[in-house]
Amino acid sequence: MGKIILTGDRPTGRLHIGHYVGSLRRRVQLQNSGEFEKIFIMEADAQALTDNADNPGKIRENIFQVALDYLSAGLDPEKSTIFIQSQVPELTELSFYYMNLVTVARVQRNPTVKTEIKMRNFEANIPVGFFTYPISQAADITAFKATTVPVGEDQAPMIEQTLEIVRRFNNIYGPTLVEPKILLPENQACMRLPGIDGKAKMSKSLGNCIYLSEDPKELAQKVRSMYTDPGHIHVEDPGKIEGNVVFTYLDAFCDDAHVNAMFPEYAGLQEMKDHYRRGGLGDMKVKKLLLSVLEETLAPIRARRQELQKDLGYVYEVLRQGSEKAREEAAKTLDQVRHSMRIDYFADRSLIEEQKQIFG
Ligand code: TRP
Repeated sequence: MGKIILTGDRPTGRLHIGHYVGSLRRRVQLQNSGEFEKIFIMEADAQALTDNADNPGKIRENIFQVALDYLSAGLDPEKSTIFIQSQVPELTELSFYYMNLVTVARVQRNPTVKTEIKMRNFEANIPVGFFTYPISQAADITAFKATTVPVGEDQAPMIEQTLEIVRRFNNIYGPTLVEPKILLPENQACMRLPGIDGKAKMSKSLGNCIYLSEDPKELAQKVRSMYTDPGHIHVEDPGKIEGNVVFTYLDAFCDDAHVNAMFPEYAGLQEMKDHYRRGGLGDMKVKKLLLSVLEETLAPIRARRQELQKDLGYVYEVLRQGSEKAREEAAKTLDQVRHSMRIDYFADRSLIEEQKQIFG
């Protein structure tokens, strides 16, 4: 059996460069590696609705934003099936069966869910759908028989939960589902890119993002205002690298060749960091490098996005056809699941024979 990828994002806003280094860039590499038999990239709108029930307009609006981010970053619909979760109702049915294999206490222990509940002040009012989303995520993954799930580390508890469901299902009903493996970003700096204000995570609600579609002027402005080392006041002061967002971003985006091309006095990033630590290297100079690296990364993405925005009919077709294809795939798995659970009553007429035995 070939390797299969499934991954996705909640369409609650445009994607930012944290998404890019944490997952999107990797997906494009994996897509082009030729190592995978099938690749499914999902816009998790149903999951997004679990904490946005009163604002479906926001999700609807962002379906295209995220699709444009995907396509402009290099996902190719010829190689990757891009689809919308809610358009594959088979996922809901799978979730419903999986819910019986998980206890409430188990979901309560999920650290990502715990953090999200706190962040949303849901403590006393958790929507049931939100609470169960790790189970629906297991349905997303298993419906496509995914072997490989490239995600950020915050998603590790979801993969753990999926593994438990798969094992329990196969144990009770016989081997049916495939155990997936998580694929984390390679580079530590890419694991969880901080916001430009130095806060733990880049997030729209904190207003500390750089978007994939950021225009050059805004980008320059954001890099200029970026958090560095507050103790590094004069150029000659020794500076800190740890917690210095500019260096964290350089770790995620910049290679030694780039450093050397711009500043030949350094062989690579390490020498530049050493100089900063010693003192004598100003923030402006480091930011200049970062801006050039970011602009080099984002310029082609921005250009493709501008082209795609002129042909929204194409984007619509990508999503429509992708959703159709995904649905066919999920339906096959659902048939196997029903068969394993022996709830495929009308698949053949064997139920009549079984009943004859009982009723004589
Ligand atoms: N939870 C993911 C996020 O918040 C989105 C998602 C939904 C997902 N289902 C998935 C990711 C299945 C990987 C696999 O971004």
